[in-house]
Amino acid sequence: MKPLILANWKCNPKTLKETEKLFKDILKGIKNIEKAEIVICAPFVWLPILKGIKLGAQNCHWEESGPYTGEVSALMLKDLKVEYVIIGHSERRNYFHETDEIINRKLKAVLNAGLAPVLCIGEKKGENAQEIVLNQLIQDLQGISEKDQGKIIIAYEPVWAISTSGGEICSADYAKKMLEFIKQRFNGKIIYGGSVDSKIINNYLKIGYEGALVGGASLKADEFINTVRVVE
Ligand code: PGA
Repeated sequence: MKPLILANWKCNPKTLKETEKLFKDILKGIKNIEKAEIVICAPFVWLPILKGIKLGAQNCHWEESGPYTGEVSALMLKDLKVEYVIIGHSERRNYFHETDEIINRKLKAVLNAGLAPVLCIGEKKGENAQEIVLNQLIQDLQGISEKDQGKIIIAYEPVWAISTSGGEICSADYAKKMLEFIKQRFNGKIIYGGSVDSKIINNYLKIGYEGALVGGASLKADEFINTVRVVE
């Protein structure tokens, strides 16, 4: 299976013009690269203008529709041909107070819509990684059948290694131990995230992660294209 590389643009780019430029440059650069499955997870408002690539969203509501001002549902995303939805990213857990119960409801909504959830789990600095991850797995996946769990992609993202741009990165040994730990409890695809760029992506693919969630490096077309190009 080809590695799955998801660009997580977060709340970027700032303007339509910048978005068009970044997208055009990325699309051109990855045109003939076939060794990875590439997905762009863009802000909701930019999704309809991104044509010719697989799309992901970064969040969704747990209901299909209704009186929920400001929310976007999984069904709406499906209608825009979105295939993946990131759920439970650490930034949503931290800044928007998403609990494991909310994440569990959102996962079910994404699965019900027939889309693939990308469930982010991971510990903060100083926390017991296995304890945190085990708790997240138990609570986030509660009531989801084995069969449906097989449709979920887990992104292991140690929160302390996210957006460190040249700072602290997670060692291959540490990432491997966590991969083995998660594998004992989850049967589907597991990818890695946390400051991934062209220099370190293979560290994680080599030890068994089946892809990567790429934040900062996906906002620079050249760096993102390189990150995909170097995949071994
Ligand atoms: P980063 O972001 O690559 O900038 O660390 C990854 C993520 O938060 O998904």
